[in-house]
This record gives sequence, C-alpha cells and structure tokens, in this order.
Amino acid sequence: MRYAILGFGGLGKLHTVNLELLKKEYDLTLAAVCATDPSRVRQNVSLNLGDVDISGLDFSSIAIYTDYKTLIDEVAPDFVISTLPTYLHAEAAIYALSRGIHVFSEKPMALTLEDCASMADAAKKSCAHLLIGQCLRFDPTMQYLKNCVAEETYGRCYRAEFHRYSQTPLWTKNNWILDPAQSGGCIFDMHIHDTDLINWMFGMPHSLTSAMTKAKVESESIFTQYRYENLLVTSAADWSLTQTFPFESRALLCCEHAVLDAKNGVLTVYQDDKVLTPEIPSGDYFMREMQAFLDTVTNRASAPFSPDDVLNSTRLAMLEIKSAESALPVIL
Ligand SMILES: NC(=O)c1ccc[n+]([C@@H]2O[C@H](COP(=O)([O-])OP(=O)(O)OC[C@H]3O[C@@H](n4cnc5c(N)ncnc54)[C@H](O)[C@@H]3O)[C@@H](O)[C@H]2O)c1
Repeated sequence: MRYAILGFGGLGKLHTVNLELLKKEYDLTLAAVCATDPSRVRQNVSLNLGDVDISGLDFSSIAIYTDYKTLIDEVAPDFVISTLPTYLHAEAAIYALSRGIHVFSEKPMALTLEDCASMADAAKKSCAHLLIGQCLRFDPTMQYLKNCVAEETYGRCYRAEFHRYSQTPLWTKNNWILDPAQSGGCIFDMHIHDTDLINWMFGMPHSLTSAMTKAKVESESIFTQYRYENLLVTSAADWSLTQTFPFESRALLCCEHAVLDAKNGVLTVYQDDKVLTPEIPSGDYFMREMQAFLDTVTNRASAPFSPDDVLNSTRLAMLEIKSAESALPVIL
C-alpha cells in the first residue's frame, strides 16, 4: 500500500517512524508528505511525548507537497495519515474519503459537531475507512480500566476522576495550538483525551456541570462533573501552567473493593489489605493504533470503533463549554 502523510510536523513524523517499523509486515511505501514549510520536512522534532528521529528516512522517492489536495489528486495514495492542524481535519478527511482513500485522522475529530457529522457521513458513503486517532483507547492500561468497569472486577465503580495538567504548549509554529479557532484550545486539544475516555468507559452522562478559567490564554482550562445513575465522574484539564511544570495525567477509579490509580499511565490497585500492580500487556499506544488502522484497511480485523462513537466525545466537550459559558448544568 502506498501512503501519504498530510501535515508532516510532530505527529506526522511520529506516525511515520511507527509506519516504517510496520513497513514489511503490511508492505507499505511512503509515497508523499505534505507540509507548508518544506525546509522543515527533513528535521527531527522534539515533542512533549519525546524526541522523534527521522534521520533514517530515505527521501529520494518521497514526493513533497505544500497543498494536500494536490497531493491526493496527483499521488492517489491507498491511505493517508492526516496530522494537519485541527481546523483542517474535516475537510481533508472528506476530500480523501470521497476519492475512496482510507483515512487515519488525528484527534480531535473536528471542532464542530457539524464537521464531525460530515466526516462520519463521508465515511459511510465511501468504500474507504475512517479511524479517528483517539490514541488512549489503544493504551493497554486504559483498556484494563475499561474492562474493570465493565466486568466489575473490583466491584462497581461509583466514582471516577480524570485529570490532565500541562505547561502552556509553546512548541507549534506561530503558536497555532493556542488559537482556539485552529486547535479548539485546551478543551479540544488536550481535555478531549479525557472526554473521550469518559465516553468510551462509561457512555454519556445524564447531566454535567462545567467551569473554565481564562487567566492567561483563551480556552486554557475546564473542570467538569458528569452525573450518571449511580456514578459521579469529575475531570480537570489545565494548560495554563508554567513552563517548568511537568506534564501530569491521572485516571482514578473508586470501586467497591479497590481504588485503581493510573498516574502518568502507571497503574496501581489499592485494596484494604494489599497493593497490586496488575500485569498490563506492553505496547506503545501510537504503534497499536497504527496497527489497528492497518488491520482495518487490509480487512484483517473490523474497525475498533466508529466515527459516530468519537463524535459523541465532541458532543460532550461542546456541552461542557455550553455549561461553563452559561454557568448552568446541562441535562442530556
Ligand atoms: N494523539 C495525540 O496525543 C496528539 C498529540 C499531538 C498532536 N496531535 C494532533 O495532531 C495534529 C497535528 O499536531 P502537531 O503537533 O503534529 O502539529 P505541527 O504544527 O507540528 O504539524 C502540523 C503540520 O501541518 C502542516 N500544515 C499546516 N497548515 C497546513 C496547510 N494549510 N496545508 C498543508 N499542511 C499544513 C505543517 O507544515 C506541519 O507540517 C493536531 O490536530 C493535534 O491535535 C495529537
């Protein structure tokens, strides 16, 4: 399969490194990349997730484009990995899907419900697949937590807490990530990971209440209570923090017989009489989501989840903003 990377920045390069490792297994050829600044194409990148080294990539047979539509028309790849800035996710995915090209599109799905619905519709009308890169659904630790909730492994989960704290992200070109019109701000760029985990683990709540701050940058934080029949979930997301503050994420599940605490992805289970560290399958979630996408497009497996399911996570984020802006609870 010939593929192209639309948006060859941090995430585009990270996925390329993983696809290169999967090249033989799936018979892959990187045909083209698209970036607005071709002088940066060959550069390695440092992300808050770690360094990405693309120095081993042979560019001699990789076409470089600055316009993704021209790339799609001229190269006609079998699939594209879309890691464009968020405001372009919907139009790029729809453009490729309508030409029968499979699409892996980074999170967040899109910045409006209408755009998410158009993407989901385009996938339904196309013979090609669309997978949204809600990468934490592929994290073995998060899969373990979801399974414990469903199976009541440690009894019923009656309270859960998710948080994600970050220094203000200053690493994108012209700070596009800080512009809510381009990235959706903290809520759509960072908090969407937790919104999506909550939707995926517990489904949609029957009501929610949110509040936001706006001290340093637009859309810098959000704090929410999600109410379910017999469960209270809370979340906090804040990227207004100082540059030396270390990134921190946490998913805490209070169950009848244990507290499950995943801090920065490391899980500990606290019971009354003992502390456990369950054996979690190894594997990087970015690699696992690429494998799941490739298995789907080669018909080795069915799609792990639908675009419509991820659309609900966007719906949840939208309702959080509505509640915060109106200072009122929202009943779903
Ligand atoms: N799954 C995750 O945990 C995760 C982490 C980081 C970023 N992301 C997502 O990945 C996406 C990209 O983020 P990034 O950090 O890689 O950004 P980035 O700024 O590093 O890269 C964006 C790339 O898109 C190109 N580009 C910009 N405008 C373009 C245009 N009009 N036409 C064609 N190319 C254009 C740029 O040249 C650059 O190569 C965002 O949607 C972000 O939310 C996901």
